[in-house]
Amino acid sequence: TKKMILDLDTGVDDALALAYGIADPAIDLIGVVASYGNNLLEQTAKNSLQLLELLGQNVPVFKGLEHSSTSDHFNVMQVSKEIHGNNGIGDISLPEPTHKIQAQAGVDFIIEAAHQYGKDLIIVPTGPLTNLAAALRKDPQISHLIGNVTLMGGALTVEGNVSDVAEANINQDAKAANEVFTSSLPITMVGLDVTLRTLLTKKETAKWRQLGTKSGTAYADLTNFYIDAYYNLGIDKHGCAIHDPLAVGVAIDPTFVTTLALPMKVITEEHNYARTIGDKMKLNTSHPNVNVAINVDKERFVPSFMEHLTSLLANH
Ligand code: BDR
Ligand code: CA
Repeated sequence: TKKMILDLDTGVDDALALAYGIADPAIDLIGVVASYGNNLLEQTAKNSLQLLELLGQNVPVFKGLEHSSTSDHFNVMQVSKEIHGNNGIGDISLPEPTHKIQAQAGVDFIIEAAHQYGKDLIIVPTGPLTNLAAALRKDPQISHLIGNVTLMGGALTVEGNVSDVAEANINQDAKAANEVFTSSLPITMVGLDVTLRTLLTKKETAKWRQLGTKSGTAYADLTNFYIDAYYNLGIDKHGCAIHDPLAVGVAIDPTFVTTLALPMKVITEEHNYARTIGDKMKLNTSHPNVNVAINVDKERFVPSFMEHLTSLLANH
């Protein structure tokens, strides 16, 4: 079985990605690294721990970095609170965690796992790329060890969601994202090109509520908060995009998407800040390291996601 590390800024769709990562037996989730992003690091780490306990899992949670590589602090954006709630998980309340956050730093855990598992390791970042870039800087060797980085971030064929060109995760730390994209890591970019096509509606969350379990109710509540926010902010009238779960889905089964292999870079200058784009200077390279997802088989992905989640939520 493949070993997976989730690097989450938990976040409603991160919470869904976490449940999906647990639910698929083809994957062994060896750890969760927390990132700042949808909320402060302290909060996202706590959210992951509480959700894991809700889902009856004993997976270690590590703290990543508290702010981007180009700043010395981080403030939660107002729009993040509107989309994900003040606590990041749709303002649902969960019992205080009984387990502790690991003492080892998340960046060191990533490096250690890369050496231990090599090509069997898949890293799935669904937040800023700050932690992974820091791991690469500390131990550049890992770019040749890791099997794949399947990340949610960026946009190639559509506009961004925080500016005309920038997607939120990349926008948090464009410098780190550029370091990751231009390293020799094998990357699959699951960006807005595909994630905006995979929507979840209240028809689906009603199925979780009907289960009558604690986790079914909690997941219905937190996802409905996100669906309402999408509606109220005019992002989508039909449902919410399950951005982060699609990255987990593609990590499990790459055939959920079709990809275009490109040498990618991230713009770090002010003009077009955080745009993910092909690097024309490297266009003739024989082995481009980034597979950009440009189409998704949503008729297969959404039902598969639902099936896995519903059977997990039925048992906790
Ligand atoms: C990404 O931004 C975050 O708010 C979501 O959790 C997702 O990872 C979408 O642009
Ligand atoms: Ca996220």
